Amino acid sequence: MAQATFHFPRGFLWGCGTSSHQVEGRNTNNNWWAWEAQPGRILHGDKSGMACDWWNGRWREDFDRAAEGNQNAHRFSLEWSRIQPAPDRWDEHALDRYREMARGLIERNMTPLVTLHHFTDPVWLGEKGGWENEAVVDDFVRYTRKVVEALREYVTYWMTLNEPNLLALQGYLLGEWPPGKTDLGAALRVYTNLARAHAAAYHAIHEIQKEARVGIGLHVRPLLPAHPASPFDRWAAGMQSSMLNEFLPRAFQNGVLRFPGWFRRLPEAKGTQDYLGINYYTLDLVSFKLSKASELFGDRFYPPDAELSETGLSANLPKGLFDSLKWGMKFGVPIIITENGVEDSKDVLRPRYLVQHLHQVWRAVNFNFPVKGYFHWSLVDNFEWERGWTQRFGLWELDVATQKRSKRPSADLYAEICKENGISSEMVARFAPEIFDQMFPG
Ligand code: FCB
Repeated sequence: MAQATFHFPRGFLWGCGTSSHQVEGRNTNNNWWAWEAQPGRILHGDKSGMACDWWNGRWREDFDRAAEGNQNAHRFSLEWSRIQPAPDRWDEHALDRYREMARGLIERNMTPLVTLHHFTDPVWLGEKGGWENEAVVDDFVRYTRKVVEALREYVTYWMTLNEPNLLALQGYLLGEWPPGKTDLGAALRVYTNLARAHAAAYHAIHEIQKEARVGIGLHVRPLLPAHPASPFDRWAAGMQSSMLNEFLPRAFQNGVLRFPGWFRRLPEAKGTQDYLGINYYTLDLVSFKLSKASELFGDRFYPPDAELSETGLSANLPKGLFDSLKWGMKFGVPIIITENGVEDSKDVLRPRYLVQHLHQVWRAVNFNFPVKGYFHWSLVDNFEWERGWTQRFGLWELDVATQKRSKRPSADLYAEICKENGISSEMVARFAPEIFDQMFPG
């Protein structure tokens, strides 16, 4: 049997990602809580409810699990609606609790990466027009200043916005998330305000904390023409990709928001990313459809022979991660994989998915791509937005009713990878023997 280890660079960040609404429980003062109460919005009428009960203190036991699993970093998010329950009111107790969490990571020798906005908005923000109203930029900066002052003692890695590209599309073009709009004009307004909010927050954070590292977590999804020979498919794929993938990191590089047939200068956004956070799950093929104007003239689907996850949410296409990292290089900043994972309640695909994707990351670092860390989504099963509790992304399984956690084999595999700072043939033989020959030929 071939024996080898794929080593990662010294100091590589190994962790998991989580977000406030998905794990804390009872976030009653945000737009998602209200959305969940509307019939038909969430699969099976599921509700976030107590989620993983972090707000009552279970973050401690879950951080212990991560630390015992040799993770040296963790990405979590702050809930704006808790910290600023009303436009003129700050909740210092909520801030204290987040300080405790950040300190809790430091005490466990883990580096915190803190997200300021992960999809949820305070109800009061929505009442003012949310991300469609330019006033959101000032509101976001006030909130940013408040939290950075409070947490700067423990945190240097900040993510202003999680997947702003998905937020604009899902909430304003496809209508699947609050506020449920299907309006391209609104989506562009929101995109612009998200970009401006990021840029303004970037400058505010650096004013307070020179050594801060600030970026966004971008949902990166390679979009490839279904028939590469078809100019129509290539056009539709390119158009969708420019909107989904390119729009924001380009603007943060050169200060121009550009979409085919539309552009806007945003000089204050130029040079506002210290790292690019890439959230990669899967890729899509695109075929041109004239009738799908509202969806940017394309049908999207997985390659017909691809292996699908448990409920078909994503296709296991690890090379897409390598291609996304390569694509991300053009923005000229270090890259952190801020999300990657698969829904798999029985943990039959996850060990293989993990090894195959990390192998692609290893390839990238060996080409000297500046990849600094990897955050698996997620530590414990959590509330998956419009898909409710139907999709299980955790290294640990959660029984939502009893809050009992049970370890999946992937948690042990990931613990070994984090400890070794690499993937050994011996690990693959034990956890994913079915891909051994593919990983270690000869
Ligand atoms: C990403 C989200 C994250 C989680 C994963 C599965 O789009 O950022 O909150 O839901 O998908």
